[in-house]
Amino acid sequence: MHKITVLQGDGIGPEVTKWAVEVLKYIGERFDHPFEFDYGLIGHAAIEATGDPLPEDTLVKCQSSKAVLLGAVGHPMYDNDPSLKVRPEQGLLRIRKALGLYTNIRPIKIFDELIEASSLKPEILSGADILFFRELTGGIYFGERGRKDDGHTAFDTKQYSRYEVERIAEKAFQGAMKRDKKLHSVDKANVLESSRLWREIVQEMSAKYPEVEVIHMFVDNAAMQLIKNPKQFDVVLTGNMFGDILTDAASQISGSLGLLPSASVGDVVGLFEPVHGSAPDIAGQNVANPMATILSAALLLDISFDMKEEAEQVIKAVDDVLLAGFRTRDIASEETAKSLVLGTNEIGQEVLQALEVRLNQSVVI
Ligand code: IPM
Ligand code: MN
Repeated sequence: MHKITVLQGDGIGPEVTKWAVEVLKYIGERFDHPFEFDYGLIGHAAIEATGDPLPEDTLVKCQSSKAVLLGAVGHPMYDNDPSLKVRPEQGLLRIRKALGLYTNIRPIKIFDELIEASSLKPEILSGADILFFRELTGGIYFGERGRKDDGHTAFDTKQYSRYEVERIAEKAFQGAMKRDKKLHSVDKANVLESSRLWREIVQEMSAKYPEVEVIHMFVDNAAMQLIKNPKQFDVVLTGNMFGDILTDAASQISGSLGLLPSASVGDVVGLFEPVHGSAPDIAGQNVANPMATILSAALLLDISFDMKEEAEQVIKAVDDVLLAGFRTRDIASEETAKSLVLGTNEIGQEVLQALEVRLNQSVVI
């Protein structure tokens, strides 16, 4: 039995994970892999129910699973009150740390049929294909922080140790070897000591991978280059916060944040979640795009269960739906016919149907 824990989280989380679960169930039936689903609370939903954004029960469920599928966490009541000590995002940060998920993989690809949905020019985007490796359990997200001077001064510290840089860099070099053998390591070594250590280690490690071309880039320049000429990037390796910011920016290269999946892996359990947040402004309205979560389920099939064919079919089914012209609101353009703009449930249904059509065809062949 393949155990998957589903953490729906907050905002649009439950709506979008619902469809990723439907897709996984369908794959399970058609390929005869019985998936077992268990559900746990995280984020604001968990705080409401238990007072804790990551209850022990949730963590135990995740630790005994092969994979975790997560929706999103976050609620506006905390954004408007910075004095609150217990916050939904702490649940996400703690689960990443507790499961040892130090590598966050974010693939950015342009779906040709969506090229018009991006705010960037088609000729700049066409053919762009980037794989981000974001360090996820260290850096400024986890460094010492606090207040001093009676609360009038605050600090957060960014710290990286050799082993932390080595293990994520290793994953990125391996990723580069499977692709175009080109690795951009993004840092701020002109200012930060932690970035100088980062650069030193990546330089040392490049001796082990002589075929990989390594380019070191400062983060400010990388932000600009991503928008100016995204095709120059293949694999990008970076720290926790730089990766957070750059991947949101890079979402425009794929057309929309609503399409970007991510995989967080370490040594045992994998966690799969869309790059987008909980989008409380559109929660419960049946307008959220479930594709990023469905594509995260495809990554789950591929990475946690080594089900390459199944993962491929899910990605292609999403592509089929886009090719057929169906859109959720976030990826519709002014030219999209009203009848093709669908809600979360309707687009989820279309993906399932496209999957069914594909799988029936492949049986015939
Ligand atoms: C992400 C999110 C999280 C992060 C937040 C919700 C803590 O933005 O997964 O990119 O900053 O890592
Ligand atoms: Mn983010």
